[in-house]
Amino acid sequence: MLRNTTARWGTPAQLLHWLIALLIGVQAILGVSGVALPLGMAKLATLARHKSLGITLLALVLVRLLWRVVNPRPALPENLKRYERTLARATHAALYALLIALPVSGWLMSAARGFPVSWFNLVQLPNLVSRNLALYHLLVRVHVALAITLALALALHVAAALKHHFVLHDDTLRRMVPGWAPRDRDASALNKD
Ligand code: HEM
Ligand code: HEM
Repeated sequence: MLRNTTARWGTPAQLLHWLIALLIGVQAILGVSGVALPLGMAKLATLARHKSLGITLLALVLVRLLWRVVNPRPALPENLKRYERTLARATHAALYALLIALPVSGWLMSAARGFPVSWFNLVQLPNLVSRNLALYHLLVRVHVALAITLALALALHVAAALKHHFVLHDDTLRRMVPGWAPRDRDASALNKD
């Protein structure tokens, strides 16, 4: 199923969700190990990969948001309390905002340091600001603060997904996983008795 319905995410939305989740894991490892390495070729190569992958993530998130706008969207499950609905919407909005702000801050940071950003050495991206070391130091702090905020938002997001699946026994997780059919209501009711 390509398009989303009001009950389920379609395959493109599902694949984009899990691909972005996987790449964020790789991206965090590249960022942290790039910072930890001593100055040298390995550090430069790791950070160059981090930058290229970060730009890839920016593009994927924009595609995902576009796909979200032109598709119907599954409603939040009905068993949620009012504050849970608000929290779910706010967390999703924060995740999208962070996934745009992080790459943009990284891109600006590199330009301010005087290092142009390339996408896997294939495409040279424009410097959005000119060299400015004070701005660079500020943007490093912004980038790291955004990365920590992303980690916290993701912890909440994953905990909520697991709660839906294992505590509330609803289809929230299943409808985001390709090929995972909704629960059989009658069978799960029988299992509980
Ligand atoms: C690690 C990076 C991840 C990111 C950036 C991320 C981001 C998002 C976003 C932005 C949405 C909202 C979709 C929308 O309304 O457009 C979403 C939905 C969802 N995510 Fe994640 N997610 C990640 C990882 C995970 C993991 C590890 C799980 C499961 C354990 C998960 C489970 C879900 C589920 C079940 C939904 C669907 C919610 C619904 O149908 O209402 N996500 N995710
Ligand atoms: C979703 C995208 C991104 C995520 C999740 C992310 C995350 C991170 C993390 C976790 C670190 C390590 C911070 C530390 O341990 O102190 C880091 C560092 C860094 N990131 Fe990103 N980043 C992203 C995108 C980008 C992009 C697009 C660029 C540049 C084009 C970039 C450039 C850098 C640089 C240069 C550093 C090293 C900062 C320093 O010298 O201390 N990042 N990033």
